[in-house]
Amino acid sequence: MSKEEEWQDDLAKFVKDKFGINPFPDQPQPQENKQEPAPPPSPEFHFKFDYTPKQVKEHLDKYVIQQDDAKKVLSVAVCDHYRHVQRCHREKHCGHYSKQNVVLTGPTGVGKTYLIKVIAELIGVPFVKADATKFSETGYVGGDVEDLVRDLIHKANGNLELAQYGIIYLDEIDKIASMSQQSGKDVSGTGVQRGLLKLMEETDVPTKSPLDMASQIQSMMEMQQNKKKDKTINTRHILFIVSGAFGGMKEVVRNRLRQSHAGFGAKLSSVVASSSKLLKEAKTEDFIEYGYEPEFIGRLPVRVHCEELTKKDLFSILKNSAGSIVRQMQDAFAAYNVELLFSDDGLHEIAEKALHEKTGARGLITVCEKTLRDFKFEIPSSEIKRFVVNKQLVDHPDDELKKMLENPSYSEEAFWAEQLKQRDVKK
Ligand SMILES: Nc1ncnc2c1ncn2[C@@H]1O[C@H](COP(=O)(O)OP(=O)(O)OP(=O)(O)O)[C@@H](O)[C@H]1O
Ligand SMILES: [Mg+2]
Repeated sequence: MSKEEEWQDDLAKFVKDKFGINPFPDQPQPQENKQEPAPPPSPEFHFKFDYTPKQVKEHLDKYVIQQDDAKKVLSVAVCDHYRHVQRCHREKHCGHYSKQNVVLTGPTGVGKTYLIKVIAELIGVPFVKADATKFSETGYVGGDVEDLVRDLIHKANGNLELAQYGIIYLDEIDKIASMSQQSGKDVSGTGVQRGLLKLMEETDVPTKSPLDMASQIQSMMEMQQNKKKDKTINTRHILFIVSGAFGGMKEVVRNRLRQSHAGFGAKLSSVVASSSKLLKEAKTEDFIEYGYEPEFIGRLPVRVHCEELTKKDLFSILKNSAGSIVRQMQDAFAAYNVELLFSDDGLHEIAEKALHEKTGARGLITVCEKTLRDFKFEIPSSEIKRFVVNKQLVDHPDDELKKMLENPSYSEEAFWAEQLKQRDVKK
């Protein structure tokens, strides 16, 4: 084989491995790598959605504690949207419909992202989450808004039909409002809003990024061989959910309420005084004042507010949520055949400590992780087979671990006593 033939062979192998096509169709092919072609995708794709808002809310209740208003509003919006999508999917044409894109407001760690994740899992549609701050007007700080749509295709394992029914979740949306910038009008934030606006309404997005060299080479080769045309995906049925903490918004709402009361010489209402209720009162005009283009906020008609979580809520998340960190901790120890129980006083103590973290339910993970860190290290290689996380252990983890390691029956007794107690409660 000549040098040129060798080079051609190597290149053909590389392109075949990487893109699955033969760049020199007239030449004989190397014999290795002869693989069966992948089976063609199923020609019929069925999209089925037959939940009612109550069923969606009941499912959310298993995972998300509190946030009843948010759960109701989201259940209705999601059912409206996906019943419409289903109609369009079946009948191949659909009447006029205004999409129920959502703005979620509320402090950190209270379940905003979690709500949407649980909903997407229930419906079985792909879900993409990104921070609005990674985009800039012209595309690259870290990405182009259209990449969000292409990410949906990845999440749908290349199924374009499923991808066009996905959910795009954009966090930190408050950071692309022009008011959130210190130095006057923020042009870049407004530019990103315009880019998103197009996506939220309806546009065709190429499935291959114009900035991704590998996909562009693949496209060119496919076109040369007259195999396929470039594909696009339409965003008409993609549900957009944006969220943020909207710290500065309280002031905007307070000012509006103050002004509207001033004319009547009335006293400030309790709403104006209580800052926790202010975000719930936010109207379109407040979002515009905050720094959104009217066209942008107008395409997000559903507004949902998530409340701050109390200590009682945090306890309930630990005890009742199907996605509780407690189960995760139990699974981690079960991997070493160690049984773990949490007593109620232990859970209350974890909730109390988590409240001081001021990061919502995320504080629960921090506290559990910190409390049990040394236990995770020591116990798998000790004689201990079961123990209880109680108030004493949460308050003094080092002392308790020492006692357990010195005398394994210390933890056994506490474990069986706690198990009896929990059985009695269940009866
Ligand atoms: N209300 C809740 N019920 C049950 N679990 C919750 C709740 N809120 C938060 N969690 C737990 O805390 C984790 C973090 O919450 P989530 O990601 O939803 O926060 P967020 O509100 O989106 O915050 P941020 O504004 O910082 O993005 C979730 O994965 C979930 O395990
Ligand atoms: Mg979030």
